[in-house]
Amino acid sequence: MTSAILFVCLGNICRSPAAEGVFRALAPNVRTDSAGTGGWHVGEPPYGAMQGAAQARGVDLSDLRARQFRTDDFTRFDLIIAMDGQNLRDIEALRPKGNATPLRLFTDYAPDAGMDHVPDPYYTRDFDGTLDLIERAARGLCATL
Ligand code: 4NP
Repeated sequence: MTSAILFVCLGNICRSPAAEGVFRALAPNVRTDSAGTGGWHVGEPPYGAMQGAAQARGVDLSDLRARQFRTDDFTRFDLIIAMDGQNLRDIEALRPKGNATPLRLFTDYAPDAGMDHVPDPYYTRDFDGTLDLIERAARGLCATL
């Protein structure tokens, strides 16, 4: 049984906290967290525009704080979900020898969306488009549990 899921992006202030916030509303019994492969925003709440776009859909991200991905996350979680291929490669490079924790792209759970990554709204500014994709992938992930 998958009881703990970690969502990972680059900064942990846009995509992965949004993914965590959307998913935890759908699956409140699953332990969730999010992290960034980079450490620039450690301790910060999610980016204001991301929080606003999520809040407009009834998703509250205000309790979340950024942290950096750590190697012991491989043993603390049953499933690790990356927002894009670079995140996936950066996480994989930290995998301890012998560890087999599944690591997947979030878009794998929304195959009909035709996307191979979750676009970063910190750069695209399309917070709603990213949330649409996150909602589809979160529903798809939920259906696999
Ligand atoms: P995220 O977006 O990976 O979706 O949290 C980013 C936010 C900030 C930065 C990079 C990505 N940054 O370099 O500051």
